[in-house]
Amino acid sequence: GVTIEQSLNAVIREAFRGLFDGELPDGVEVRFLPAGDERFGDYQCNAAMLLGRRAGRVPRELAAEAVARAEFPGWVERVEIAGPGFINVRLSAGGLAEHLAGMESDARHGIPQVGEGRTVVMDYSSPNVAKPMHIGHIRSTVIGNALDRMYRSLGYRVIADNHIGDWGTQFGLLIMGYRHFLDRQALERSPVEELERIYVKSYERFRNDEEWKRRARLELVKLQRGDEENMALWRRFVDLSMTEFERIYRRLGVEFDLVRGESYYRGELEEIVAELQRRGLARESEGAQVVFLDEEKLPPCIVRKRDGGFNYATTDLATIRSRLQEFAPERIVYVTDERQQLHFRQIFAIARRLGWDCGLVHVWFGLMRLPEGTFSTREGNVIKLELLLDEAERRALEVVRSASPGMDGRQQREVARAVGIGAVKYADLSQNPQSMVTFTWEKALALNGNSAPYLQYACARVASVLDKYRERFPGREPADYPFLIADGVERRLAARLVRFGDVVVRAAHAYRPNLLADYLYDVAQVYSSYYQQVPFLKAEEGLRESRVRLSAITADVLRNGLNMLGIETPERI
Ligand code: ARG
Repeated sequence: GVTIEQSLNAVIREAFRGLFDGELPDGVEVRFLPAGDERFGDYQCNAAMLLGRRAGRVPRELAAEAVARAEFPGWVERVEIAGPGFINVRLSAGGLAEHLAGMESDARHGIPQVGEGRTVVMDYSSPNVAKPMHIGHIRSTVIGNALDRMYRSLGYRVIADNHIGDWGTQFGLLIMGYRHFLDRQALERSPVEELERIYVKSYERFRNDEEWKRRARLELVKLQRGDEENMALWRRFVDLSMTEFERIYRRLGVEFDLVRGESYYRGELEEIVAELQRRGLARESEGAQVVFLDEEKLPPCIVRKRDGGFNYATTDLATIRSRLQEFAPERIVYVTDERQQLHFRQIFAIARRLGWDCGLVHVWFGLMRLPEGTFSTREGNVIKLELLLDEAERRALEVVRSASPGMDGRQQREVARAVGIGAVKYADLSQNPQSMVTFTWEKALALNGNSAPYLQYACARVASVLDKYRERFPGREPADYPFLIADGVERRLAARLVRFGDVVVRAAHAYRPNLLADYLYDVAQVYSSYYQQVPFLKAEEGLRESRVRLSAITADVLRNGLNMLGIETPERI
């Protein structure tokens, strides 16, 4: 189907194009967006102001001319020009009903399949072997997975690839550490922690012991040449780490299509450097192979070190090439913390120069601050995610117990799991990824506020309205009754619901799950006042069915929206 914004945009673009000899000036986005203030209408377009400045015309006049040319669909009740030249559009009640009915009969609830026939590779989570996931990997996992789910909902073919750090110089040190410092019991108890410990110890030795350094290099070279014993150790490090990472992914409900670590590309690095040389992009500088990026005003990028070793950048270039060949994606999206911005600018610049034809997007986020205590280990930044999740479930259980004392214990624990994990994820997803936020339990678990439990509760409440209706009026089909949408809160709810598909498109294409979170919170709040203000089951026949239909769509929107954020919605809370 076609969404409201898509329809309105097509109409207004056509109209403005007519005023500019068939072509809109570059860089001006002519579109409608949901109006901030419903008194002005449901959707608003500010293009006349942007275009007026360009064309040296009075925006209000330009807007009037565009509106005069525009052929709006029948469901538009009113078009007005306001203030300096805003074009405001209001939908008719019949128009709202038409769109609501469309959502009802659509398995996707109005999410347009704009991604059909398109492929996107999503590179997220990507922790490093033998190191615990740090807060950056966790945010990457949660944000990346939400984007992954949103793109799939839009019909994209998504290849989710967990690009783990499983190759590199650290393995020489790890092998040395494993041979000299390993505590087997500790390895059994907490493998990644122990691997990290022996790595750190080995690294300390490496820094002031030449002999150790030499031997670590030797072990690395042996590994790179495929030495059997070292390969076996390497595989063990990878397996131990993956087992631990997978436990976390299972708890978070995250699945990947591929887990191709850096090691997957190790045979292609030589060839990448050769290609860069052939194309005149890489040249020697002080014994290293370097791509200079002066034109892009970026520092030079080393693709082969003096000692012959390759870099993170070389691997990422090989990875892009391989993904292009195998999947022909229109876009590759990387989700990491802000500290990798320069790295991605460099490799994107090199890919562009190579003429690799693919959109490359780095979605970066700031670091989240965590409260002091239980789960911040020595570095502050490294947290024990599993402890955080345990704590979330424990605190959620308290909330569930006091909210639903009658529920049986097993169900309480199951609900607490969904609420606790949801709360941690939502605390992250409801923020602009690029702003600095502080996580607090109070906010994450608040039953009143922009939190997962609030939304999960709203979902359960709508579901219970529907259950009660079915119980009281068995066999009746609400869809046989027309929508009756009264002005006020009922209309407000309807106008919110029909935005769903457009919000998903906007949030996905801006790589901002928080836009979807904000929308869901808004819907839940409007539904909550609707619920308080109008009778449902006690309303007269017809009105009652219309309200039940609105409630069912609300439930679909909330459940689906939360699902895209990776948040479960228990039947009861
Ligand atoms: N393993 C890297 C890290 O922990 C993140 C990898 C991100 N993806 C990529 N293709 N470079 O910092």
